[in-house]
Amino acid sequence: MNMLVNSLCLLLIQSFMFISVCQFVPESRYEQTSTLVNTKIYIFGGNTGKSNFTNEVVYLNLSSPLNTAKPLWVKNTIGIPSAEILATSCLSSIDKSTVYIIGGQTHDPTNQNLINPPLVNAFNSITSQWTTVTTTGFYNYSITLDRMQAVMNNDGKIYIFGGKEVDYSVGDTNYGPYINKMNVLDTKALTWSSLNITNNVPTLRVSYTATLLSNGLIIYIGDFEMINSAKTNVNMNEQVNGNTIAPRNAHSAVLTNDGRIIIFGGNSANSTSRATTLRAQPDVAVLNTNISPYQWSIPSISSINSPQSLCFHSAEIYNNIMIIAFGIVTSDQLQTTETLNNNIYLFDVQNYAWISSTSTVSISNAPTSAAPSSTAPKSTKSSILPANVKETSTNHNSNYMTIGISLVQFSDAIILLLKATI
Ligand SMILES: *[C@@H]1O[C@H](CO)[C@@H](O)[C@H](O)[C@H]1NC(C)=O
Ligand SMILES: *[C@@H]1O[C@H](CO)[C@@H](O)[C@H](O)[C@H]1NC(C)=O
Ligand SMILES: *[C@@H]1O[C@H](CO)[C@@H](O)[C@H](O)[C@H]1NC(C)=O
Ligand SMILES: *[C@@H]1O[C@H](CO)[C@@H](O)[C@H](O)[C@H]1NC(C)=O
Ligand SMILES: *[C@@H]1O[C@H](CO)[C@@H](O)[C@H](O)[C@H]1NC(C)=O
Repeated sequence: MNMLVNSLCLLLIQSFMFISVCQFVPESRYEQTSTLVNTKIYIFGGNTGKSNFTNEVVYLNLSSPLNTAKPLWVKNTIGIPSAEILATSCLSSIDKSTVYIIGGQTHDPTNQNLINPPLVNAFNSITSQWTTVTTTGFYNYSITLDRMQAVMNNDGKIYIFGGKEVDYSVGDTNYGPYINKMNVLDTKALTWSSLNITNNVPTLRVSYTATLLSNGLIIYIGDFEMINSAKTNVNMNEQVNGNTIAPRNAHSAVLTNDGRIIIFGGNSANSTSRATTLRAQPDVAVLNTNISPYQWSIPSISSINSPQSLCFHSAEIYNNIMIIAFGIVTSDQLQTTETLNNNIYLFDVQNYAWISSTSTVSISNAPTSAAPSSTAPKSTKSSILPANVKETSTNHNSNYMTIGISLVQFSDAIILLLKATI
């Protein structure tokens, strides 16, 4: 009997050890890009610290309950063809399975040298295969862009505003030119165009968030902007009512299915150095886009299960839970060395509470209509513009007419409103 108990114990210990050994624990990282595809959050690439860049593709399987104590990361057998940081990614609205990864700094995964990047790679999430997407019409194929965010409309067009030019023959200097173009990739025709925005052209900017609302407006929040060579974070309260929100870049934004944009984290330091970070307060703020003008609020949130403050992390929303992963830890004192985060954090966007697991929340195999910020929710076509925002005349050539973009007024505000027909 004793013998049997002992051997059972051993068996249990062995299987426990077996599980421990087998569970993949990814390295901490930041400057990765993420995309929700059905029930998986894919994380592409990233900086694992000390200028070591990864081409890893890792994912969380949302069909299983999530637990912050033991996130069940899976490493995709096939990585990105090259190591990528500061790229942007979005899910195809046409086939719902292809992820486009655009721009970023591309490195040889073995020797970490900056290499000549393909501007667009496509990841087939069904077969895990990568293809280089050959496009025409980009405004300068000698460069790529980084620190920008893409959104895709229902018609397969990807809108990318701003970013920083990366000349791969020179490398990423923190002084690289920022841009304020709106570049559009038509993923059906594989052609790029730059919208001819002539009114209220926003400042040169990087490291903002872009969220496509169901009414077709793209909401750009926060960023690091350059005016006359001076770089600062933009004022987050221009054109918006409500609570004061500290300026920030490298934060995240997710859209709830009832029109709230939830931002998390970010860096308030007026510095382009990645290691120089300062916590942006508050960690969580909510922008209500259902009222006019839009309104910020700071929800009162219990400190139970609350996360470290982060920037350069990833955030996606699934079944009303915002899932945060990776990033650089920020604090109220200016940091000049990077401390990386390897945890995941779960935020219930209905009850405004940090939770430790989704086991008590019903996570079904099918996603709800909650859409990540990078994909287009169903169009309702009803345009609700804030009262202080008026539609301006646009100067489209015929191409832009068919794209159906119109520009609405913004100044140097945090919030640029552009209309993408979806
Ligand atoms: C990058 O990380 C890998 C894996 O941890 C390690 O083997 C390699 O030596 C690192 N490279 C550099 C340049 O630090
Ligand atoms: C995801 O989790 C579900 C439920 O545990 C499991 O059936 C499925 O095989 C997992 N899928 C992957 C790709 O890991
Ligand atoms: C394209 O980028 C390269 C590299 O930065 C630059 O030398 C060149 O002048 C650019 N061409 C145009 C047309 O802007
Ligand atoms: C960043 O620069 C702006 C403009 O000069 C200044 O108002 C703000 O206090 C600075 N922020 C920090 C955190 O130093
Ligand atoms: C952009 O619009 C301006 C103002 O209408 C016009 O002068 C300019 O020629 C246009 N540029 C292009 C490239 O279409």
